[in-house]
Amino acid sequence: MKTLISSDVRLLANLIQEGKVVVFPTETVYGIGASTRLESACLRVYEIKGRPKDNPLIAHFHSIESIAAVCELGDVGRALLERFSPGPLTLILPKKDKSLFPKELDTLAVRIPKSPVVREWIELSLGPVSAPSANLSGRPSLTKLSDVLRYFDGVVDGILIAEEPSFGIESTVVSLVGKTPVLLRPGSIESNELLKILPDLWIPGSGSQKETDSVPLSPGTKYKHYAPTARVILASKEEFEFSLKTMNESKSTAWIGFSFEEIELNEGNKLGNLHPIFKSDRFCFVSSNEDYASKLYAFFEACDFAGIDTIFCEVPKLGKGEEGLRNRLEKAISS
Ligand code: TXA
Ligand code: MG
Repeated sequence: MKTLISSDVRLLANLIQEGKVVVFPTETVYGIGASTRLESACLRVYEIKGRPKDNPLIAHFHSIESIAAVCELGDVGRALLERFSPGPLTLILPKKDKSLFPKELDTLAVRIPKSPVVREWIELSLGPVSAPSANLSGRPSLTKLSDVLRYFDGVVDGILIAEEPSFGIESTVVSLVGKTPVLLRPGSIESNELLKILPDLWIPGSGSQKETDSVPLSPGTKYKHYAPTARVILASKEEFEFSLKTMNESKSTAWIGFSFEEIELNEGNKLGNLHPIFKSDRFCFVSSNEDYASKLYAFFEACDFAGIDTIFCEVPKLGKGEEGLRNRLEKAISS
């Protein structure tokens, strides 16, 4: 198949209207989208990804009003979108327009991507655009155009060229359909911020409420996710530094973390800045949790591509940006 690779939002919007499948960047990760109004187009997304059919898609909108037109938004939903959108927040809402994909569900996951270019494309597509992350099911999400081209050029109808993802991990997902709002997936918008608008937010795993039914609340959470083929080891600062100091010649191990600069290498040098030995693709230096999140999946992807078999990931710093990053790292070690 010939893939239209272009930054022309109008051409790529035409593809969506025609029932075609388009990969596009968002501020979190790349998505692989089709019109929410065309079931057969959405089903092709499942086929291309190898995604289980019971895992619904997020519908991407260009504005709050376009969401309110098809879902029960309510005051709280509106307050959340006004505070955090456009941006990496997905809400699960009761659906008003029952014709939207997936028809068998009476709820819809909605989100407004940050990029004005992407929002213009969605509007021209006569959106919404339903899209999961653009990756093969079970693999980490993609955050680099070069990786997207490797997997999807020749496989999808179009690839929209726009700003690359900057957050690097998928959106925070909050369900507003039950009695209590629930954090279904942590992300860059953190629970301490959400609690200001949703003081009764249930954060599963925090022990704040009955850990009721172990039934996954969001179908997606029961599937293997976010993991590279390589084995991931979550290492404390000490373990990370120790593994670097004692590394051998073998090229099959890689590292991502903060603590490269102060490593005393075997020669006994205390290094103020990055030693030349670390200037290889097997070492990924990060300066903050946010920087870490933005580099993580692309690093996983590069490591698998290079045939690395073990990746040491340093634990995130306490505080800002920790919640979503820690969640993805824990998923990567438990799969
Ligand atoms: O940042 C993101 O959210 C990216 C970009 C492309 O927007 N998308 C993304 O989609 O990560 P995906 O499909 O990989 O994750 C969507 C999550 C899944 O866990 C899915 O089960 C859940 O949202 N979800 C979708 N619709 C739902 C619904 N109606 N009820 C409960 N969970 C839902
Ligand atoms: Mg995904």
